[in-house]
Amino acid sequence: MNAYTPSRDDKFSFGLWTVGWEGVDVFGTAVRPAMDPVHAVEKLAELGAAAISFHDDDLVPDDSTRTQTLERFTKALADTGIVVEMATTNLFSHPVFKDGGLTANDRQVRRYALAKVLRNLDLAAELGASTYVLWGGREGAESGGSKDVRAALDRYKESMDLLCAYVREQGYNIRFAIEPKPNEPRGDILLPSIGHAIAFINDLADPELVGINPEVGHEQMAGLNYAHGIAQALWHGKLYHIDLNGQHGPRFDQDLRFGAGNLREAFWTVDTLSGYDGYIHFDYKPPRTEDEEGVWETARGCMRNYLILREKAAAFRADPEVAEALAAARVAELSEPTLAEGESLADLRAQTYDPDALAERGLGFEKLDQLAMEHLLGVR
Ligand code: GCO
Ligand code: MN
Ligand code: MN
Repeated sequence: MNAYTPSRDDKFSFGLWTVGWEGVDVFGTAVRPAMDPVHAVEKLAELGAAAISFHDDDLVPDDSTRTQTLERFTKALADTGIVVEMATTNLFSHPVFKDGGLTANDRQVRRYALAKVLRNLDLAAELGASTYVLWGGREGAESGGSKDVRAALDRYKESMDLLCAYVREQGYNIRFAIEPKPNEPRGDILLPSIGHAIAFINDLADPELVGINPEVGHEQMAGLNYAHGIAQALWHGKLYHIDLNGQHGPRFDQDLRFGAGNLREAFWTVDTLSGYDGYIHFDYKPPRTEDEEGVWETARGCMRNYLILREKAAAFRADPEVAEALAAARVAELSEPTLAEGESLADLRAQTYDPDALAERGLGFEKLDQLAMEHLLGVR
């Protein structure tokens, strides 16, 4: 045991499909054998995780063994104390979803997709999940004429509205979280970023029930700042879930372990999450170079890196020199309303301003950032 050993209170969670990834990619076949979900639960419990998440097909791919699989699985949960915090639907692997699920042009495909979501939603409720994620990896297009985007959004909304009504009617204690991604596997995916998803949610019939599940790599694939993205999601009260991993800038979805890739943004991400009380969920892929021991190394690494960064961020916030730099940078001043209470726009306009004098003031942001950097590099 040391300071970076996770405990249940840290609320770390992993998708069954992460540690269970066999390594099938566009260029090659599996490099690791399939992993028994019961084994994944036991190992994750041993490593200090608190929870898991799953797609219907990760857990119950086979209908003929469904009951037996679920019995073994719920026993493993009871034995280890691991809980199911999130569930989701695989609307991307089967060829039937080649043009999407909820927004496929083919109406029968859409009906099948919705039925598949409903079925797993019932299981999610039964297993106690409080979040249901919708990642629309196949909802999109490769070419302009093939998809009527406005009609697709109508159908996306129709499904979300139906799903929300169903959850209300059943009395399930579940909220939905839409996961944005710009591309891959589709050439262009609908709801490609945090901002697109939040705007969409605000037009749903029951927006209270729907938030987002932003993933580090997905925003960074689009060149966006993830820490800013989740800050905006928190501002809207829409950060219902989170997918942490690592990514090196705009390229294919790398799904590295958390902390790998853009480390500075990982630092600000953990800083931004200070006070967030949801599960800290990892969605990554242990690289194909790893055997099973290497897989557990990556799972350990995700949690350890989070704890290390949490400590670094806390030390940064507690540093008196940082406090001085923050004051010099007028960071707290931004929380002061631009117009004082009781003041009118006429008062604001009547004041004399000296823009040249105002422009002369430096803000000292570089000093502040260097302090953050030195905390991150471990020299403070
Ligand atoms: C990806 C996505 C998925 C989803 C998962 C849950 O890029 O592959 O991140 O891993 O998070 O399917 O819906
Ligand atoms: Mn991803
Ligand atoms: Mn994800």
